[in-house]
Amino acid sequence: MQIHLNNQKISETQADAKIVLVIDKNLDHASISDKETLTLLGFKGESEESLFVAESKTLYVGCDSLDADEIRLAAAKALDALKKTKLRSLCIGTYSNDCPGLNIKALVEGFILGSYTFDTYKSKKESSSIEKIIICLEDYSRVDVSMQTATEALRVATAIAEATNFAKAIVNATPEEMTPIALADVAQTLASIPNVTCKVMDETFLKEQGMNAFLAVNRASVHPPRLIHLTYKPENAKKRLVYVGKGLTYDSGGLSLKPSEHMVTMKADKSGAAAVMAILKGAATLALPYEIHAIIGATENMIGGNAYKPDDVLVAKNGKTIEVRNTDAEGRLVLADCLCYAQELGPDLLVDMATLTGACVVALGEFTTGIMGHSSELKHSMLKASTASGELSGSLPFNKYLKKLLKSSVADMSNISSSRYGGAITAGLFLDNFIEEAHKDKWLHLDIAGPAYIEKAWGYNQFGASGAGVRMNLYWMIDDTKRGDQ
Ligand code: BES
Ligand code: ZN
Ligand code: ZN
Repeated sequence: MQIHLNNQKISETQADAKIVLVIDKNLDHASISDKETLTLLGFKGESEESLFVAESKTLYVGCDSLDADEIRLAAAKALDALKKTKLRSLCIGTYSNDCPGLNIKALVEGFILGSYTFDTYKSKKESSSIEKIIICLEDYSRVDVSMQTATEALRVATAIAEATNFAKAIVNATPEEMTPIALADVAQTLASIPNVTCKVMDETFLKEQGMNAFLAVNRASVHPPRLIHLTYKPENAKKRLVYVGKGLTYDSGGLSLKPSEHMVTMKADKSGAAAVMAILKGAATLALPYEIHAIIGATENMIGGNAYKPDDVLVAKNGKTIEVRNTDAEGRLVLADCLCYAQELGPDLLVDMATLTGACVVALGEFTTGIMGHSSELKHSMLKASTASGELSGSLPFNKYLKKLLKSSVADMSNISSSRYGGAITAGLFLDNFIEEAHKDKWLHLDIAGPAYIEKAWGYNQFGASGAGVRMNLYWMIDDTKRGDQ
């Protein structure tokens, strides 16, 4: 599907059908030429509502407001409504009449995010016939978006949305297909982007580095682990941003085995890994002025005679000892070692992303990412970027009493809390043990356990992977480039 911009009026544009976003509930906007039909058919212009009027070849889509996320939603719903048709080209105006110009960035993001389909394993593919969408800049009264601004919006939105869809595809792949080695192969493909390089390290390296917590998680798996290190290094880099992703290609829980109903969807335990790869891909495609590293700990968490056990004590890369009390709290073990590795790069910003705890889903609900860290300013900037990007997130506060719950009688810390409450935060505080003093205020922990994988489609998110965390971080970077200019 190609998205084009043109400087013509919608009435002069050649396309099989047009899309009209209905914002005025009285159906009084100049773009609505079928008011009578719409009224007759009971169309109210509500969010997620759409109606195709055949005579005028117009799809009317309800849109609650001109807020960016409403526009993303309407764009995605438009494609959804037309997916079974034979229409090949669509056009849409930019509504400069009484409303401010339509947010082209959000519109493009909505189209691309909405166009994602996951049918790899279906023998009958239901591909949409829509090949082209034309956004007409000159509309009902005046032009308020220049071609230059719109072209830039199209470029940025395309990179962001395509990166998000790239993450979805990785997460949706089965655990049998997307093993740690296969994940590393996907990472390697990104090295075709200018200024991107990829290093993949195996067990020998992990042993040399003393990454024993990571290695313990891998022990019962027939698939060897991989430490993936992607780098994007442009010449004009302003800052060094280091991302760390949890890459559990499958989480059975290990010997602390998950009940079967909780094990289904655990192919999505690699969502943090997919997100950090996608963020690097998006930033590199946009040629953003940052040096970016994406570090991924890729392994499975399985059972077997060789499995690591509750009661084991592991020595992490930084020398700290960890009493294993639950082998299902494995993500934090992998991340602990990867965070140590990551800090050797001297980051200006350190973000880890993980489907870390079911407790985060209990705390915030399944649609929302949990943001944790020590710096209120940093947390706030990420919350803001998240909202602008259309991703939901909420801040979860650290405190020293929760930290004490990780105390162990036999080692420096336990891998689980002694309380059943506050599990998302205690997981974050476990990771805090591996953050050096110099990086405390530069670190954010994003728990994407809720939104990463969707079992019931919502908004413009299809069933399956959502690419959680990708858009908010790319928005954060774009915001940060602007902060730097001030
Ligand atoms: N991968 C899971 C967390 C998870 C749960 C992700 C639901 C997505 C949806 C993680 O490794 C895990 O099992 N965490 C345990 C921690 C507990 C043993 C302290 C959990 O959340 O139950
Ligand atoms: Zn687990
Ligand atoms: Zn896990």
